[in-house]
Amino acid sequence: MSGKPVVLVTRKLPDAVENRLRQDYEPLLNPHDRLYGADELIDLCKGADAIMPCHTEKLTAGVIGRLPAGVKAIANFSVGVDHVDLAAAAERGIIVTNTPDVLSDATAEIAILCMLGAARRAGEGDALVRAAEWRDWSPAFMVGTQLTGKRLGIVGMGRVGQVVARRARGFDMEVHYHNRRRLDPAHEAGAIFHETLEDLLPVCDFLSLHCPASPENKGLLNAARIALLPGGAIVVNTARGAVIDDNALISALKSGKLFAAGLDVYNDEPDIDPRYRDLTNTFLLPHIGSATRETRDAMGFRALDNLDAIFAGREPRDRVA
Ligand code: 8YV
Repeated sequence: MSGKPVVLVTRKLPDAVENRLRQDYEPLLNPHDRLYGADELIDLCKGADAIMPCHTEKLTAGVIGRLPAGVKAIANFSVGVDHVDLAAAAERGIIVTNTPDVLSDATAEIAILCMLGAARRAGEGDALVRAAEWRDWSPAFMVGTQLTGKRLGIVGMGRVGQVVARRARGFDMEVHYHNRRRLDPAHEAGAIFHETLEDLLPVCDFLSLHCPASPENKGLLNAARIALLPGGAIVVNTARGAVIDDNALISALKSGKLFAAGLDVYNDEPDIDPRYRDLTNTFLLPHIGSATRETRDAMGFRALDNLDAIFAGREPRDRVA
């Protein structure tokens, strides 16, 4: 026994992060990166002082209720915490933290990629070339729509939303947003605030979702709201699948109400609604918003900073419960 706190690390983390874990903690690592089921996870927590999970581990009230008493902290390797029942953790006195800020740039890049991919039919074009089915060129071939000069609506003008707005200005887009609270002028940087989502939607040639998957945001983009978008609009989601009503989005993509959708996140990942795969006007990525070397290291270090604070008896910087 080293006397160091024992940390259950649920997935394979970057080498630099695992090295720091070995230095300061007694880590229970997952070198083969296996996805643990609930019972196995609870079992592995025996003797652990903390868990470092990803969004792939569903820490429901039932799971949290069965964790051994020694578990004092859940230091998430994620900014989203919809996979953790925060109320259940708080009830058991378990501290929960997340990793904000460090993944905003990487996720904003993927939002821009989704906009470009959907608008310029990048998935379709890539598939055509790979299948050796590209036979000809004509002025009518693979015509999409451009970002430049269009109106972008951002739902949730937090850390990621604000970076997306900055990047979008590089495409001369006119930025509109809806947020619980209006930002101060410095953070707004010319973006046009809409008090309600219903007020924002009619001006969105592109709509990019950046709100958390809180219970009240479940199915936020539903049929009634999609109907308020201009015809031919493009929807992008790099937040969480739960904020979209899949039936409504798929039917609007099929009918031509929407030109296309660029999606990085889905309901029931990775078992996504198969109809998305059958549509040619979808640009689909496998939840890679934060998947850059720089960002994954930074997320791990941020989670460890939180653990360090907790075990030093200090308030962690990113406490969410
Ligand atoms: C992470 C994310 O990679 O941090 C988040 O909330 O959605 C992703 O970009 C993932 O959640 C890691 O657990």
